Amino acid sequence: MAAKELVFSGVQPTGNLHLGNYLGAIVNFVKLQNTHNCIYCVVDLHAITVWQDPAELTRTIREVTAAFIAAGIDPKKHIVFNQSQVSEHAELAWVFNCVARLGWLNRMTQFKEKAGKDRENASVGLYAYPNLMAADILVYRATHVPVGEDQKQHLELARDIAQKFNNDFSDSIRTHGFNEKFFPQPEPLITGAATRVMSLRDGSKKMSKSDPSDYSRINLTDDADAIAQKIRKAKTDPEPLPSEEEGLKSRPEADNLVGIYAALAGQTRADVLREFGGGQFSGFKSTLVDLAVTKLGPIGAEMKKLTQDTAYVDAVLADGADRARVIAAETMNAVKDIVGFIRKK
Ligand code: TRP
Repeated sequence: MAAKELVFSGVQPTGNLHLGNYLGAIVNFVKLQNTHNCIYCVVDLHAITVWQDPAELTRTIREVTAAFIAAGIDPKKHIVFNQSQVSEHAELAWVFNCVARLGWLNRMTQFKEKAGKDRENASVGLYAYPNLMAADILVYRATHVPVGEDQKQHLELARDIAQKFNNDFSDSIRTHGFNEKFFPQPEPLITGAATRVMSLRDGSKKMSKSDPSDYSRINLTDDADAIAQKIRKAKTDPEPLPSEEEGLKSRPEADNLVGIYAALAGQTRADVLREFGGGQFSGFKSTLVDLAVTKLGPIGAEMKKLTQDTAYVDAVLADGADRARVIAAETMNAVKDIVGFIRKK
């Protein structure tokens, strides 16, 4: 295959997948298959940086895998696997623990948010999380990483780690005959503006698996009735829909529903408003229910089928891990030589 750019991305197996994960990440993963070689990883090592019930973790690893496949990711043409099956991720992360500086990690806003007030009680893994993420990407020397806005800072850290490694070991990299840019600078592929999906109960908050109200989100495994109920109950305001995008500005709930419609229909917000502007939410919501059920129903049904066939899902992950390991081992062997370790040749 011609030297296509290599995409890597990861999704954590924690909680149920929802419309935000689908429109914000997975749809983009599916598209990238046409233009890039892609590696999609269920990042179970990242998941355990906060406590996970073991049986539930096993279930959610399979569920994310099922969602990837049901949404149209082809695990034969590309690579789908779970992180813990390729030990090179953890190995390279250790080396990166010794490259990254405390000062760099202290700036990570996600750690501050997730650790909250009780920082003393956060796991060391949660703190070192960005180093593992850098290892995920760089162990494949991936060049492009589709991520949401919230992961941009972690990606910048991965770039800093790549650069510091290349600098610190520049002599050894040369001595061993490698390109001086041993690790590339991975580029973010930030997904389009239409795909930031907000809570159905509060248009100022992101749709989230941790929101206590299930009415705030549409889960990928929700059936048609649940989807319909949640959209009908979604918060709106008393005004009719505007005819121009300008009119969505200070109306976060209206903006969110129009954005969801646009993303599901493959249209722009302007297209949607041309059709529904001036109308009441009730009519718009019924059409949105039909659209959501048409688009998400088959994915949810396929996910349910796949998650019952654990042997198949586990075989996909094992096969993906075998293929990922070949690439990762090549990088890790080179890293061992560069750092000065001795290994069996
Ligand atoms: N931190 C990412 C998230 O929570 C998941 C992730 C782990 C990831 N490793 C990655 C994303 C590597 C992109 C590339 O969304």
